[in-house]
Amino acid sequence: MKRNVFAIIGTSALTLSLLMLNSCKSDADSPGLEYAPDMYRTPSIEPYVDYGEVRGRIDESKKVKLSARIPARNTIPYYGKDTSEVKLMLPYFRKPNVAFRETHGLYGFDVSLADEYALAAADKNPLLINAKNAESLLTKGKELFTAMCQHCHGEKGDGMGPMVLSKAYEGVVPNYANLANLSDGQMFYSIYYGKGMMGSHGSLLSKKEIWTLIHYVRQFQNKDYGKFDASGKPVMSAVVSDTTAVKP
Ligand code: HEC
Repeated sequence: MKRNVFAIIGTSALTLSLLMLNSCKSDADSPGLEYAPDMYRTPSIEPYVDYGEVRGRIDESKKVKLSARIPARNTIPYYGKDTSEVKLMLPYFRKPNVAFRETHGLYGFDVSLADEYALAAADKNPLLINAKNAESLLTKGKELFTAMCQHCHGEKGDGMGPMVLSKAYEGVVPNYANLANLSDGQMFYSIYYGKGMMGSHGSLLSKKEIWTLIHYVRQFQNKDYGKFDASGKPVMSAVVSDTTAVKP
């Protein structure tokens, strides 16, 4: 009986040391035998790690060569000459503080954030309107408005869209004409994050599309909005216009 136990222990120790010896390699850079190489190295192509190895096969000709490919479609560029254009593509910097307060409040954190909606009042529409781009900007605005907003806000922006007439949204959709003092930034904030019965459009529209829509909405508040005289000056003096404006 005792002999058997010694034999088992002896054989196991021998097998174990053989296994351990087997994992030793003379290469100082080698980790030795890898029992689960997939855990260390991803089988997919790593664009910025160029060791020419894909699924265990090393392609010598691809080693130490730039392997980065063209970025996936709709990737947001972080460089470019037109800084305002790039800025328009980056995510909106304001946080949905209401949701943040709700979630963090649950865990007992004191989140005394400033009222971001109030702060948004200072944000200006970076997509400036001028005599040259007004027509294409407002045409694009109409296209977006018809598809995304008109069913609630109404074709004339009076808050009488089919959703309201059907009584589903009765009495909650404002007439844009009554919101003439609402800043561009607050309009953006509400469209991006939603307000009251209006859902968030942040995932449905790009920042540029939202700023375009804001120009379109302004027309319902002043019929001269987006109109320019022969010399290119805005008919409505309050319109912020710039000849060096962002391309539409
Ligand atoms: C489902 C119906 C619905 C849709 C779709 C909708 N809205 Fe609204 N919108 C509302 C309601 C309701 C309010 C009033 C929210 C409040 O003040 O409680 C509102 C408010 C607004 C305001 C005022 C925001 C503020 O800060 O007071 C603007 C500007 C606006 N909407 C623009 C848009 C634009 C542009 C679109 C299209 C992208 C759109 N809305 C789509 C229902 C809608």
